[in-house]
Amino acid sequence: MTTILDIHNKWHKKNKCELKKTATQPVFGNGNPKAKIVFIGEAPGKDEDISGIPFVGRAGKFLNEMLEEIKLKREDVYITNTVKYRPPNNRDPLPEEIRECLPWLIEELNFIKPKVIVTLGRHALNRFFPEAKISEVHGKLLKIKIEGLKTENFFALYHPAAALYNGGMRETLIEDFKKIPLVLEK
Ligand code: URA
Repeated sequence: MTTILDIHNKWHKKNKCELKKTATQPVFGNGNPKAKIVFIGEAPGKDEDISGIPFVGRAGKFLNEMLEEIKLKREDVYITNTVKYRPPNNRDPLPEEIRECLPWLIEELNFIKPKVIVTLGRHALNRFFPEAKISEVHGKLLKIKIEGLKTENFFALYHPAAALYNGGMRETLIEDFKKIPLVLEK
């Protein structure tokens, strides 16, 4: 039987992304492969590159706090990134780097088949909704049928790293996050 780890190992081997050369290691998605909810960030940062686990740095701690607020643990959800290797100096991943990691992300998502995909930040949002503006769609349930993707429900949030030091955005993210249990019930 195929496991989520088989999927990660397969794509890590196949992947031709330039970022592989500079990253310490791949950062596979992490958490419950049977989760109803998957969070997608953009790309691993320094802490993630060192540990091999997504969202373990400051943004990750903030994410854990918000999960706790809605009575969820990391083990209840699944967390991954659009790109599995750290871009040098945390620059934005290039379009070709994102493209190279996309089939990996899609297979990962289709294995888990979550009820809802939560995008963290505008980059993850724009992978699925290229035209959407995060300032307009955050905190809303979005529906889209994407060819090859089994999940149709999306929920857009600001990125915890962007919201950490921006009071207004932080408040908005915390408020939006509290809507997740309702979104899951629908
Ligand atoms: N930011 C992300 O987008 N992903 C991580 O894994 C960590 C920080």
